[in-house]
Amino acid sequence: VQGMLWGGRFTGGIDPLMHQYNESISIDKVLYKEDILGSIAFARANAKAGIISEDEFAKIEHGLREVMKEWETGTFQIMPNDEDIHTANERRLCELITKEIGGKLHTGRSRNEQVVVDMRMWLRERIREIEGHLISFLQVVVARAEADIDHIMPGYTHLQRAMAVRFSHWLLSYGFNFATDLERLREVLKRINRSPLGSGALAGNAFGIDRQMMAKELGFEGITYNSMQSVSDRDFVTEFLMWGTMFMGHLSRWSEDLILYSSSEFSFITIADAYSTGSSLMPQKKNPDAAELLRGKAGTSFGHLAGLFCTTKGLPSTYNKDYQESLQAMISHVKTVSDSVQIANGILSTLTLRPERMLASLDPSMIATDIADALVRIGVPFRETHHISGRVVAKSEELGIPMDKLSLEQMKAIDGRFPDDIMDAFDYEASVESRSAQGGTSRAGVLEQIQVLKAMLG
Ligand code: ARG
Repeated sequence: VQGMLWGGRFTGGIDPLMHQYNESISIDKVLYKEDILGSIAFARANAKAGIISEDEFAKIEHGLREVMKEWETGTFQIMPNDEDIHTANERRLCELITKEIGGKLHTGRSRNEQVVVDMRMWLRERIREIEGHLISFLQVVVARAEADIDHIMPGYTHLQRAMAVRFSHWLLSYGFNFATDLERLREVLKRINRSPLGSGALAGNAFGIDRQMMAKELGFEGITYNSMQSVSDRDFVTEFLMWGTMFMGHLSRWSEDLILYSSSEFSFITIADAYSTGSSLMPQKKNPDAAELLRGKAGTSFGHLAGLFCTTKGLPSTYNKDYQESLQAMISHVKTVSDSVQIANGILSTLTLRPERMLASLDPSMIATDIADALVRIGVPFRETHHISGRVVAKSEELGIPMDKLSLEQMKAIDGRFPDDIMDAFDYEASVESRSAQGGTSRAGVLEQIQVLKAMLG
């Protein structure tokens, strides 16, 4: 095939659609910088191994830095036969410094190793950016949890009013998911940051290349140890996608709460105009689109993961072209996750609370557990107190009187052991403060959570 770098053994032409079907430059051009830095490290190691001269290395490095400048200034011209970023950069290098010298760069190297070097370096940097965005978001979680600690709202199970909780306690419930995601992300990064360079096409490098030296130059924490695994391994992408899918799942559940709480029926919060849109038909509408997109994109991001799992699960040993599909999954996933965490930060930073609406949604029946607890404190077994408190609920429903408006006599008629100050239990602040064991919704419990979460930011 005329003009293709691997064209030597081919005699026939290529189907034009196949040409387009096969290329990845339209996607992997984002890896231009990593590809060039990897090539410089590879050439330097080849010079050290005596495969190219110091003078040839100097010319290759200079040429590659020129190619980098072209990408950075937007003057790099992608040619029709530039199949991927690796062939494009090498083609341009040879134009700049002649094929005589440029043609020595790829000695003993394969695109099979090159693509994973590039991907690992690129993903490593993106993860560091995402880590920064996630820390910023968590700092807002902490700041709001501190500022809004006084507000009490209904806590739900099964979406039914359950017990009073602090708004900050609710926020931190997601905050701990996100902070644990941060810990996981740092773990994932360790396994991504290993260098496969020097693995060759599959069997290793025949020229005694110093893999540790290349790894060090490229900022890797070590090397991968089996060349066959190195060229076929996309676990570093899969693991990042698993990470992102779980993170997006957390954002999605958080968004679902925000969507509910911003509805007229709840109206605990108002989402800022900056993260809402209107309706083209109904003038009164203000829709929580940003939160809905977070929830929707969580589904899309799971699709990236499911797609990659399906693509890789049945492949035979070492490199197969199927792996090219991992590029799109990785790049799309990075964009979704990176944008989403910044949008989440924006939503939370600009959210307005409506504490009076939260209070108005508290219901005396949410004190039923506290009523049972009051009897427990004077020695009545909980199974019995649960039943007694249930009769108080039933009485209030039967009479159509809120629980806190029943008289002490009506309470004592249900169970004579109720203490005289039982009606004092109908106090949401006291209810919240009674849950003072670690991890609970009392002020001290929430303040401790804030400290723990801050420490997790590192
Ligand atoms: N563009 C290819 C990819 O992303 C590079 C590796 C191609 N190697 C090969 N032997 N065809 O996977």
